[in-house]
Formats: sequence, structure tokens, C-alpha cells
Amino acid sequence: MAAYLSEWLSLIVRWFHVIAGVAWIGASFYFIWLDNHLREPPEWKKEKGIKGDLWAIHGGGFYEVAKYRLGPEEMPPVLHWFKWEAYSTLLSGLALLFVVYYIGSPGYLIDASKAELTPFTAALIGLGFIGGMLALYEILIRGPLGRNGMAFGAVLFVLLLVADWALFQIFAGRGAYIHMGAIIGTIMVGNVFLGIMPSQRALVAAVEKGEEPGENVGRLAELAKIRSTHNNYLTLPIIFIMISNHYPLFYSHTYGWAILAAIGFITAFARHFFNLRHRGVHRPSILLVAAILTVILIGVLAPSTGQHAGTATATAGAENAVTDVDIQNLVSTHCQTCHAESPSNPAFNAPPAGIALGSLASVKQHSAQIMQAAVTTQYMPLGNTTGMTPEERQKLGNWLQEQK
Ligand code: HEC
Repeated sequence: MAAYLSEWLSLIVRWFHVIAGVAWIGASFYFIWLDNHLREPPEWKKEKGIKGDLWAIHGGGFYEVAKYRLGPEEMPPVLHWFKWEAYSTLLSGLALLFVVYYIGSPGYLIDASKAELTPFTAALIGLGFIGGMLALYEILIRGPLGRNGMAFGAVLFVLLLVADWALFQIFAGRGAYIHMGAIIGTIMVGNVFLGIMPSQRALVAAVEKGEEPGENVGRLAELAKIRSTHNNYLTLPIIFIMISNHYPLFYSHTYGWAILAAIGFITAFARHFFNLRHRGVHRPSILLVAAILTVILIGVLAPSTGQHAGTATATAGAENAVTDVDIQNLVSTHCQTCHAESPSNPAFNAPPAGIALGSLASVKQHSAQIMQAAVTTQYMPLGNTTGMTPEERQKLGNWLQEQK
């Protein structure tokens, strides 16, 4: 019953988190788009202090948007702020971290072959990383480095890389990845809460008093702009991490941390092309380099185990022949506690990933995924709780090859 209810809880929290995240990143993309499409307004608008305007049509109506150089002469009665999208994404994300990783399936987080942690210590370490990285970021951005875009970007990348590597040494790959997502997401929400919001409040206060925004407001606004640029570069990597739990190929790789760093770098770099283009600078070479790096990554990660398994089959003598009974036993020992119509493992009510391996026919049916999960990436059995040996994996690989 507990597992059943936790499944519902996880669905509801995850759903909410995705909706909040879509609203946040969607609004942020929309405002970037607006900024980049403002045109020179007509004279009468300029006199009102409008620096750019645009027209759009959507949902059956015309919209006229105007951006003021400083602010309207008088505070409008209703002013829309965009902050709850960010806050609710963070809150639901943290809830999801607890529901899925800290309470629900510590198996996604704890890998006894890396560190024998209790769920409680694992959660403490995870939260410590998130809080620690936020603190480091805040110290750095408030210092002189904060004003030097390139240098800050490089230092931030190195810091994230170190955290990524360290988390990977302690946690299971999937848990390490999601913690990198939580770190980046928390930094992004911190940027809204600790920098962008205070700057907007100062601007609103100045307009309310009917004053020209002073030097202090200007400084806050400058820093808010830097923070918002950082968030902009982080959107693509964080979305990759949000969906990465579907890709054990990456997170369960021995060098999963380096793969994450490479994908993070490539996506943030590709974002750079769009940011430059918005400023009128066309540098397609950036996209070309990003594409080449992606192709290199695809090449580097290409599995070789499949071929090994093939060669092994060819050279396997009769004494090494794998029988159906061997496979039946192997699957029953290592997979069926979870992958059954009614799993005996209390953490599951239904076969995980919808894959029940009750018969050899079903093993054949899922042969490609099993090859990937149990032979190539070896992320199955989850956390290798059943202690599946390399020889058994080889056997399974050989048998799967023979079925083709
Ligand atoms: C302790 C429980 C457990 C055991 C034991 C286990 N699995 Fe899984 N398996 C899971 C869970 C949970 C998922 C879903 C993982 C996810 O969504 O990332 C899964 C997913 C899979 C998938 C789908 C992967 C994908 O990304 O599409 C395959 C294939 C698979 N398991 C094969 C196996 C095989 C083969 C064995 C035995 C050698 C095995 N599993 C043992 C829990 C288990």
C-alpha cells in the first residue's frame, strides 16, 4: 500500500514540477524573445518614455507590448510579477527529490559499491551539496568576479565540474545527475530570489516615489542582468538533466560525470550562439563546433560490448554454451523480484518500466533494452543488489546475441 500511494504522490509532485518548470522557462523564453524583437517605437510613444514596442497576434487577438526605458510615470494599479513560477519549480523540485530519491527509492541514490550510506546520510550529503554550491555561487557573484562574464563562466563551470565528479564518486549515477540538476536549479532560483527580485523592488519603489532611479538601483539592475544571463545559459543543461533519468546510457557510464559535463558545456555553448545572434552577432561557427563536439561524443560513447559479446559467442566452445535454462535461472535470480507482473520486491507494485520478465519469450521481446541495461551499461539489476557477476552478464549477452 505504501509503495502504491508513493507512486501516486510521485506522479502528482512530478506533474506539478514539470508544469511549474514549463511556466517558468516558458515565461523566461518569452521575455527574451520580447526583448529581442522590440522595434523603435513611434515618436509619441518615445515621449512617454517607451524605448521599444512590438505587435503580436495570438489566440485570436492583437497584443501591443511596450517596454519603458525606466518606468511608467505613475505606478499602474496592477503590475504582474513573474516569480512564483521560479519558486514553485524549486519547491516542487525539492519535494520530488524527497519523494523519489530520499524516501521513495534510495536505490536510485545509494550505490553500495561507491559508498555505503544510509538513506538519511545520503539525503544530508545531497542537501549539503545543494546548499554549499548555492552559498559558493552567491559569494562569487557578489565579489569582483561577478562582473567579469567570461571569467565567472569559467570558474562556475569548474566548480560545477568538481561537484559533478564528487557526487558521482559518492552516489549512484542517476542520483548524482539529479543532484547536479537540483544544484543548478537552486542557483537559478537563488538568482531570482536574491538578485532579480530585489532589483525589481528597488525599481518599483523609485517609480512609486516618482524619482529617477538612482545609482543604487542601477547597480542592482546591472547585477540582476548578469544573474539573468547566467540563468539563460543554464536552461538547456538543466532541462537535459531533468530528462536524463530516462538515459542510463549516460548516467550509469563509468565516466557519467564527464559525459554530463560535456553535454552541459555543449548545450550552454550552443545557447551562446543564440544570445550573440540576439545582439546582432552572427557566429554560426559556434553551432558547428557544438555539432562536431556532439558527433565526437556520440563516437566516444559508442558501445563496444555488443561486438565483444558477438566475438565471445563465435569463440565459445561447447563447454561455454548458454542454455535456455541458464538464462531462466539467471533472470529469476537477478531480475524477477522487480520485473514480474506482481513484483515480490516491496518497492514495486507493477513491473518497473513496464517490463515483466516472467518468460523467456518476454526476455527475447525486450532483448535490445536488456542488452543495453544489463550488459552494456550494467545499470540493471538496480544497484546490483542481487550481485550479478560479469560472467553472468557475458552469458546473458551471448544468449541475447544468439536469439537474433
Ligand atoms: C531492484 C529492482 C530491479 C531489479 C532486480 C532489476 N531491475 Fe530492471 N528496472 C528497475 C527499475 C526501477 C527500472 C526503471 C528505471 C528507470 O526508469 O530508470 C528498471 C528498468 C529496466 C529496463 C528498462 C530500461 C530502460 O531505460 O528502458 C530494463 C531493460 C531492465 N530494467 C532490465 C533488467 C534486467 C535484465 C534485470 C536483471 C538482470 C533487471 N532489470 C533487474 C528495477 C529493477
